[in-house]
Amino acid sequence: MSVHISAQKGQIAKTVLMPGDPLRAKYIAENYLSDAILVSQTRNIFFYTGTYKGREITVGASGMGFPSIGIYSYELYTEYEVDTIIRIGTCGAYSTELNLFDILNVEKAVSESTYAKFAWGIDEDAIPHQGDAFDKIADTSETLGLKTKAVNIHSSDIFYRLDPAVPAIAEQYNCPAVEMEAFGLFANAKHLGKNAATILTVSDIIPTKEFISADQREQALRTMMELALESTLKF
Ligand code: HPA
Repeated sequence: MSVHISAQKGQIAKTVLMPGDPLRAKYIAENYLSDAILVSQTRNIFFYTGTYKGREITVGASGMGFPSIGIYSYELYTEYEVDTIIRIGTCGAYSTELNLFDILNVEKAVSESTYAKFAWGIDEDAIPHQGDAFDKIADTSETLGLKTKAVNIHSSDIFYRLDPAVPAIAEQYNCPAVEMEAFGLFANAKHLGKNAATILTVSDIIPTKEFISADQREQALRTMMELALESTLKF
């Protein structure tokens, strides 16, 4: 048990897939894993451990934002000896250069947040993916014939904001889209010497207000889930 995860030691796999939403973790466990066991449900943040094509894997939710993914990823890395966390989430595109359903493999997470500075003394505002999970995802994507794009991503503390302009830091680092967790995950992994990657599906185009409808969402996210699951076979 850790402060926020009630699984016993040994009940969490070395590789964890981490969607934001607990119900998405449940969906992956029910649709893709064999012999999945619910190993923690503290605060309704579900963690399931099972096997995918014979490989033990845990899928558990991060919640939203740096504080939440910061807590869960830290406890997984330090209390459960997790080696690799792959976040699978959605993002909003800043321009029509990206399309709905595009899949992104995150090179660097860029943020104005002080999370990394105050947690670990990491002063950079662009933190790369950690370890070789990114490369394994890129290889797997090619094998599956997916057109995954490698990009920098803006990790923001803010979902709703007054100013509709693309934030300066996103322009500076050439970030075509925004989400709210990758920077916190990469900061923790960097500090702890662990592996971390983030795969995102474009769920909305901010300037045109297009978004993936509820009934399209399941299939759209399945492609990303399958990419993440197949990538774990390379660990
Ligand atoms: N902003 C931040 N996070 C997001 C968005 C967004 O527009 N869409 C999906 N995740």
